[in-house]
Amino acid sequence: MSSPQNIDVLIIGAGAAGLMCAANAAARGRNVVVVDHANKVGKKILMSGGGRCNFTNMEVLPKHYLSANPHFFKSALARFTQWDFIALVLKHGVAYHEKKLGQLFCDNKAQDILDLLLDECAEAGASIFTHCDIKTIEALSAEHAPARYKVATSLGDYLCESLVIATGGLSIPTMGATGFGYQVAEQFGLALKPRTAGLVPFTLSPTQLEQFKDCVGNAAEVTVTCGTQSFTENLLFTHRGLSGPAILQISSYWQPGQNLEINLLPQLDLVDYLTRQQQERPKVLLTTLMSELLTKSIAQSFCSFVTEIRPVNQYTPKEIQAIADLFHKWEIMPAGTEGYRTAEVTLGGVDVDGLSSKTMEAKNQPGLFFIGEVVDVTGHLGGFNFQWAWASGFAAAQFV
Ligand code: FDA
Repeated sequence: MSSPQNIDVLIIGAGAAGLMCAANAAARGRNVVVVDHANKVGKKILMSGGGRCNFTNMEVLPKHYLSANPHFFKSALARFTQWDFIALVLKHGVAYHEKKLGQLFCDNKAQDILDLLLDECAEAGASIFTHCDIKTIEALSAEHAPARYKVATSLGDYLCESLVIATGGLSIPTMGATGFGYQVAEQFGLALKPRTAGLVPFTLSPTQLEQFKDCVGNAAEVTVTCGTQSFTENLLFTHRGLSGPAILQISSYWQPGQNLEINLLPQLDLVDYLTRQQQERPKVLLTTLMSELLTKSIAQSFCSFVTEIRPVNQYTPKEIQAIADLFHKWEIMPAGTEGYRTAEVTLGGVDVDGLSSKTMEAKNQPGLFFIGEVVDVTGHLGGFNFQWAWASGFAAAQFV
């Protein structure tokens, strides 16, 4: 049995947060090793943003994040901002563009972002190993100082002063996601917040699917509301339920059993519009008018809930109000979500009250750090989750 390797920093998880932390810690002169159980590093980076990686956003604000403590993430995000990451992107000559709503994507492919991180790691001297299974983690007594942890792996044992857990969340298990980080947190007495799938499509019941079967493949710009949270973006009807950016965003705020209220025409006052049409185009059928505002399938599906389809001038003001409510206040209770199989993120995770917001170090366990998605900090859709990975990785890197 070969003797353990003495290093300064062992990072478990070579994803967005782990690689960012590795590059910056190694740049400080620390002897850094990153290990990952997968056959390739950065798999989620490669599949992100439809293969083009939405790596950050032009506007990063606290309102774009969910956490049991809505102040925890502010410090790290302020110390490594979107502008810092954009500077890195420019340094590496990665071509990028703003798609919409401040979302920055690679012009070419997500591999450019992974290459950027790997180049930074190589330049700073961080070592990265794949195919590495973690067997045990042991906290060492003071007599082993400066080493504080012994980590037994399939590639050999490491003694390290700082141990960084960057193993991400539970989404897309086929890409190597595991609950490993949560187990480590539990092993060292850190609390966990309940975990659920976030940024995930909704499923509908068989009856609801039947009602909207003609809408499959159709999209509309809607405002979807759940409780006090609203998003105005596209909604897409699918074979299994509802998807599209508006739905993914609201899914992070939804609890089973809650209704969604969906305004299918958020830019229009339908009572006002139909009342004017009664004067201007009195003989036009309601379905024809609605098909001018929404796709024909969506318009017809929703008009099927109107007792009788008539020329628009034949509806009373009360009926016009009821028709408007149908389109402006569509209430639907999803059957569930697609779960971790397709979710972009995991909500919940390592309770931030147990971590330092300055260093990401466990308050009760010196030298143990948690960064990235494993922590109970989740961003909205739009590059905010990577920005958290970069920022938390950078924050920890200054103190490991
Ligand atoms: P990440 O998941 O990146 O890395 C964790 C690493 O740990 C992996 O390499 C894994 O193999 C390794 N690991 C896990 N368990 C281990 C174990 N037991 N032992 C050793 N290694 C282990 N966000 C965004 O901002 N913009 C976007 O465009 C997208 N797009 C997107 C698309 C899809 C399909 C998904 C699933 C997700 C996104 N995201 C996103 C979210 C984003 O990918 C996510 O928030 C970050 O990758 C999180 O970074 P981490 O480094 O924390 O985990």
